[in-house]
Amino acid sequence: PVSPWKLMDLTFTAIVPLLLGSVGLFALFRLLQRMRMRAYLQDAVVVITGATSGLGKECAKAFHAAGSRLVLCGRNSERLQDLVQELSAKTHKPFTVIFDLSDTKMVVSAAEEILKCVGHVDILINNAGISYRGSILDTGMDVDKKVMETNYFGPIAFTKALLPSMIKRQQGHIVVISSVQGKISIPFRSAYAASKHATQAFFDCLRAEMEQYEIDVTVVSPGYIQTNLSVNAVTADGSPYGVMDKNTIEGRTAAEVAQVVLNAVGQKKKEVLIAGLLPSLAVYLRTLSPRLFFTFMASRARKERKAKDS
Ligand SMILES: NC(=O)c1ccc[n+]([C@@H]2O[C@H](COP(=O)([O-])OP(=O)(O)OC[C@H]3O[C@@H](n4cnc5c(N)ncnc54)[C@H](OP(=O)(O)O)[C@@H]3O)[C@@H](O)[C@H]2O)c1
Repeated sequence: PVSPWKLMDLTFTAIVPLLLGSVGLFALFRLLQRMRMRAYLQDAVVVITGATSGLGKECAKAFHAAGSRLVLCGRNSERLQDLVQELSAKTHKPFTVIFDLSDTKMVVSAAEEILKCVGHVDILINNAGISYRGSILDTGMDVDKKVMETNYFGPIAFTKALLPSMIKRQQGHIVVISSVQGKISIPFRSAYAASKHATQAFFDCLRAEMEQYEIDVTVVSPGYIQTNLSVNAVTADGSPYGVMDKNTIEGRTAAEVAQVVLNAVGQKKKEVLIAGLLPSLAVYLRTLSPRLFFTFMASRARKERKAKDS
């Protein structure tokens, strides 16, 4: 049998140096990764849609702090100017562009304006979006189209308008803020989940097609975030939902998610799921046992309908 002294000797001469070496190598790797990320984001031209509120606003703060040159997009000029003031030109003063994503003509001319004024785009963050609450039976096609225009057609039109200039430079990074609902559909969110599924599909194709031009694509799929998304959601008749959902209040802060977005972009990750255990399990369950997943969703629909009727 090995004596305790020999064991201690082995621990100090082999295992401890091995452990310390591994920790050192890991720290060095992290340091190099951070340095590479800083160099990538510093002075990069970053375009962010939906910068007037929630996650977009926090992304603006995070990328500004990382030294990026910002182009902030939104529909509300006053709120964009407030953000420009808040960022107070610590490094570069942000440039602002006003347009509505549901108007393809405006989207294309906004992209042209950006290229004319700032020359090129290094990173495009397609963040703007609206949510929806309602039953499929009660919802008019105009509402389905509105959600699709804002969450899907707008971002893809903007991306297509900026891509040729990225391809010319053989450099660029397209980011899209999708959702856990781009991977699983939950009842009474049909238009939103459909728009995010379409988003996931489009940007997965784009990633494959852009590899030859060295253009990166990152799809970010968060769970609930503490923003005004549910308040601004449209309902079956097109009117605003106007309610801050419990799930939203209990979600991650927008600043926390913006930091994950920044790191994912800096590390050129292909996709990120930012969700707790239950939504993450649901995503796997949808693939591994769809029948069980559908049973859970049907039960959720029954419960929600009962709660609404009572
Ligand atoms: N909050 C969540 O729980 C959650 C979860 C997963 C994914 N997401 C995604 O995160 C992204 C950001 O949403 P948020 O949570 O930060 O919500 P938010 O606070 O409501 O912000 C949405 C942003 O999108 C802009 N927007 C909406 N419709 C637009 C249009 N037609 N044209 C141009 N801009 C438009 C809004 O601009 P205005 O100020 O002009 O309205 C606002 O800046 C969305 O894509 C959303 O789907 C959110």
